[in-house]
Amino acid sequence: MAAATTISVPFDVYRFDPTKDRAPRYVRYNLDVAPHTPVLTALLRIRAEVDPGLTLRYSCRSAICGSCAMVVNSKSRLACQTQVGPEFERHGRVVVDPMRNMPVLRDLVVEMGSFWGNYRKLEPHLIEDPDRPMPKDTPTVMTPQQVDAFYETPRCIACAACYSACPAVEADPEFPGPMSLAKLYRFVVDPRDGGTKERLLKIQPNGLWLCLRCHLCTEACPKDVRPSERIRDLKEMAIAVQGATEHGSKHAIGFKDNIRAKGLLNEARLIRQTYNPLEAVSLLPQAARMVRKKPEILKAPKAIDGIEEVEKLYQLLDEEKKS
Ligand code: FES
Repeated sequence: MAAATTISVPFDVYRFDPTKDRAPRYVRYNLDVAPHTPVLTALLRIRAEVDPGLTLRYSCRSAICGSCAMVVNSKSRLACQTQVGPEFERHGRVVVDPMRNMPVLRDLVVEMGSFWGNYRKLEPHLIEDPDRPMPKDTPTVMTPQQVDAFYETPRCIACAACYSACPAVEADPEFPGPMSLAKLYRFVVDPRDGGTKERLLKIQPNGLWLCLRCHLCTEACPKDVRPSERIRDLKEMAIAVQGATEHGSKHAIGFKDNIRAKGLLNEARLIRQTYNPLEAVSLLPQAARMVRKKPEILKAPKAIDGIEEVEKLYQLLDEEKKS
């Protein structure tokens, strides 16, 4: 039998011990590996054969426990699920960093207190409705459609890859993060939960509208939970419960109105739709810079050709939502 082909791969691995080192550094390790070797296996070989001090977290080695999330070639993901070959082919090396948005304890291990703290704040358990107490002795029967509404979310293994990839967490550590919001969605759509409205009201001010809809969380999620889509659903539900009371919700509704009316954004109108006059005054310096760069934003755009088609699409979406 022919020997398996191996490739010689440079690994640049982040090393940092905050109790001893002044600053982080990268250490290069060269390793001959088969292309299908998981990055985790390569790191364990480095630890066993070259550098016993390399610190990392792992357990199942099968993309189940979520322990081995780290940043490989700038993307947050599971090291046990990422093969060395494609990474080497694309980048010429494998750069391994600890997850972002959490402090490093040592090398590739981070302290996940903020991740779990934000999750706990959202009360991730069923809240009983006093007017509709759950039966104590008989199981609650749910229809397949009711279960379907949240079947993706329980796949989450809480690896925190989404939290590490999220720019909103980086900008504001109070933002609960994609996993917490996806789990919140799971309770909001659960017909047994009695806290739906309160959950949606509580989460709005800092929680929901900081999401930029960049979809990096969905790209990072190893279990296809698609947190950004769950956050989108929560935003729609929050508007349904409370109307547009936040800048984020006003902006979302204004954006939709503009596109429906003309097929294009009227940026000056969108600012008026999002901010009250006093708030808009504070944005004048920023607005002046925008106008200098792009004077045409002051003119209301004409409707695009085929605007009727845009309207038809919106009507279709409205009907779909109703059904
Ligand atoms: S080691 Fe368990 S998910 Fe990677």
